[in-house]
Amino acid sequence: METAEIRRRWLAFFESKGHAIVPSSSLVYDDPNLLFVNAGMVPFKPYFLGQETPPWRRATSVQKCVRTGDIEEVGKTSRHGTFFQMNGNFSFGDYFKAEAIAFAWELLTTSQAEGGYGLDKERLWATVYEDDDEAAGLWLTHSEVPIERIVRRGMADNFWSMGVPGPCGPCSEIFYDRGPDYGQEGGPAVDEDRYKEIWNLVFMQNIRGEGSGKDDYPIVGDLPAKSVDTGLGLERLAAVLQGVDNLYEIDEVYPVLVKAAALTGKTYGAKSAHDAAHSDPDDVRLRVVADHVRSSLMLIGDGVTPGNEGRGYVLRRMLRRAVRSMRLLGFDEPCLQHLLPVSMERMKASYPQLETGFSRISQIAYAEEEAFRRTLAAGTTMLDTAVARARSAGQSMLGGDEAFALHDTFGFPIDLTLEMAQEQGIEVDQDGFRRLMKEQRDRAK
Ligand code: SER
Repeated sequence: METAEIRRRWLAFFESKGHAIVPSSSLVYDDPNLLFVNAGMVPFKPYFLGQETPPWRRATSVQKCVRTGDIEEVGKTSRHGTFFQMNGNFSFGDYFKAEAIAFAWELLTTSQAEGGYGLDKERLWATVYEDDDEAAGLWLTHSEVPIERIVRRGMADNFWSMGVPGPCGPCSEIFYDRGPDYGQEGGPAVDEDRYKEIWNLVFMQNIRGEGSGKDDYPIVGDLPAKSVDTGLGLERLAAVLQGVDNLYEIDEVYPVLVKAAALTGKTYGAKSAHDAAHSDPDDVRLRVVADHVRSSLMLIGDGVTPGNEGRGYVLRRMLRRAVRSMRLLGFDEPCLQHLLPVSMERMKASYPQLETGFSRISQIAYAEEEAFRRTLAAGTTMLDTAVARARSAGQSMLGGDEAFALHDTFGFPIDLTLEMAQEQGIEVDQDGFRRLMKEQRDRAK
């Protein structure tokens, strides 16, 4: 089933259950805690907190999201993508746990011929928060998941918040068992690669305070009304329904990967047909290209332009990582003109404005690539010389002064220097780099 169809069925299903269809917000959303929208509930936060009255008690959306906290993991696992879409259904003081569970079960297991996703019931698992007997009981009465496949987990896994003070609550996650080829038996607590999380049902009822990590913060109050926030990973479900290993291989992403492979003369998956460790460096690079090209397209589409800080820097970093990955795969010419249109063609079914705005979007991307190519050409020689010098001096670390010079002369951001040095097996003295940066700033004052 194509991703656009999964999306269409989602919205149609929840509309039939009395939910208003709310269009995705822009990725750039005015929330001081966030660079980008990173969950479907973000635009609805004031409704959960009771700060604003929602125009509807039930809503559904497919929200564009970007998460870049794990950008280094992209391509190395089956799970990490920077841009993704989160399908959500929301209740603002309307239904609660029972309906959320019943809706999820119905949509996932209704046959495809009857408009559902037709997942095999035997492969579905549910987790609940450790003391949430109510949710566990509701899974038994409102679904066919047997008690052996209902797993209780602690706060780090089954209590959801935005990572900052705000609405939160216990959650119940739905996992799909991909089978013994993907890992050992035992359920999601044992192997989250084999048992893939596809949908998170959050039973919003509390307000959290300051704190760090996923489980180290106080609960400081209750929400004015018990509510529901769910998030299904559209790309994850697409991978399941399309019978592919990971999100880089679904219909909205894979054509870019195929194009990158054709341009570079590489064969994706050549080293092993099913690389469970996702470790072949060329495959990782191809996945990085596919992921970052799409994310850049979506970010520029929502008005972000490359820059040296904040959102602009995230975009710059992704464009540069894509271009560099292509170079490392052996393609030295400008590449975005070949890749970005492929991505746009795949995404326009759900986001037609990408096609109408493509001339603006592509000009921004291509200009950034040009600028970066000039930077790289100059800086790479300097970096290689510095690495060779460090090696011949028997050092396993590049001095902070060298990293600083790369930054000062060629505009190499420190993470580019780190990545490029790491590829040659060399560390970088980051403390030294920061000290020199600070000295420069102090001098400028
Ligand atoms: N907010 C929850 C999440 O991001 C469910 O939508 O997982």
